[in-house]
Amino acid sequence: MRVLVTGGAGFIGAQIVRALVSAGHEAVVFDALLSTAHPDASYQPPPGTQAVIADLRDAERVAGALTGVDAVCHQAAMVGLGKDFADAPEYVGCNDLGTAVLLAGMAAAGVRDLVVAGSMVVYGEGRYDCPRHGTVRPGPRADADLAAGRFEPYCPRCGAELLPGLVSEDAPADPRNVYAATKLAQEHLASSWARDTGGRAVSLRYHNVYGPGMPRDTPYAGVASFFRSSLARDEAPQVFEDGAQRRDFVHVRDVAAANTVALTALGDRRRGSFAAYNTGSGEPHTIGEMASALASACGGPDPVVTGGYRLGDVRHVTADSRRLRDELGWKPEVGFADGMAEFAAAPLRGGTA
Ligand SMILES: NC(=O)c1ccc[n+]([C@@H]2O[C@H](COP(=O)([O-])OP(=O)(O)OC[C@H]3O[C@@H](n4cnc5c(N)ncnc54)[C@H](O)[C@@H]3O)[C@@H](O)[C@H]2O)c1
Ligand SMILES: [Zn+2]
Repeated sequence: MRVLVTGGAGFIGAQIVRALVSAGHEAVVFDALLSTAHPDASYQPPPGTQAVIADLRDAERVAGALTGVDAVCHQAAMVGLGKDFADAPEYVGCNDLGTAVLLAGMAAAGVRDLVVAGSMVVYGEGRYDCPRHGTVRPGPRADADLAAGRFEPYCPRCGAELLPGLVSEDAPADPRNVYAATKLAQEHLASSWARDTGGRAVSLRYHNVYGPGMPRDTPYAGVASFFRSSLARDEAPQVFEDGAQRRDFVHVRDVAAANTVALTALGDRRRGSFAAYNTGSGEPHTIGEMASALASACGGPDPVVTGGYRLGDVRHVTADSRRLRDELGWKPEVGFADGMAEFAAAPLRGGTA
């Protein structure tokens, strides 16, 4: 199979390219080398792999890259929370206009198979249960609560403390920031494309992906990269809130494997269909645990819990990844302790840190 991997120079895309090639497939990388993700703009495709360095919003370059392609693995996106709202047009441009141009190109070229990098950010907060009211959906947390150290969301009906649980793919979407809104729109665009063209689309909603080749800390990187970069400078990781936020850390090689599994299974899917799959390790951990695991693996200073916060952050989000295991037979191979130990020693991208 010849697969166009958009964002193939990125953290996850590069591992997908590697996984595809080692499974005997052909990969074509399409990547703009965004400066937010590639501060030094250097990229060498793996030997034997073709790379198109262009922006997805360039319809001509997209059309050219789609020649002879059997399926598209769409990883390109501007990621992270960004600096401030001024970044919104660029997020929407890269993620949604870029996706629309790609899908229009696929429609014209007759490419009908698509795997798209989704995200658990589409859920907003995770699942919560109130002892009296069952499953409830707390609204965004108020600045005043966060500033006062009240980090846990409470029941919108009775104010009780809530128990966090696992989100399923059927939970309603509730994107809480610009990036999350663009990731949800990507899925809606993919779904419309599939219906219109008889295409087959799968979104893999990744959790917190970590591992070698993660970008260095920038406002566009993930929390594991912030901690890892601090430790490389021999500084203590700064943990926001009280460190008890729950996440699902999934290793980048497991995410790459989920993509190859999903791509090879597309042929069995119904035409005109779209489906989303949570892609997580299934083992929730707190941000504080992750910081400690990295600090001890690096032999660096212990993390410092700062009580700081970012309004766009959600408290807990962990999802049930059973559907991906049951329907596609994927299973994560890298455990938390081993993965964090490897990550502590691995180089980050865009620097020596
Ligand atoms: N890292 C995570 O924890 C995580 C979690 C959930 C979802 N995702 C999704 O996974 C995908 C890959 O993310 P990543 O962590 O590898 O990020 P990354 O920044 O390392 O990779 C994204 C790549 O896309 C490229 N790109 C962005 N906009 C483009 C455009 N308009 N045209 C061409 N190329 C463009 C960038 O240059 C970059 O190489 C993204 O879609 C992201 O939303 C990542
Ligand atoms: Zn209640």
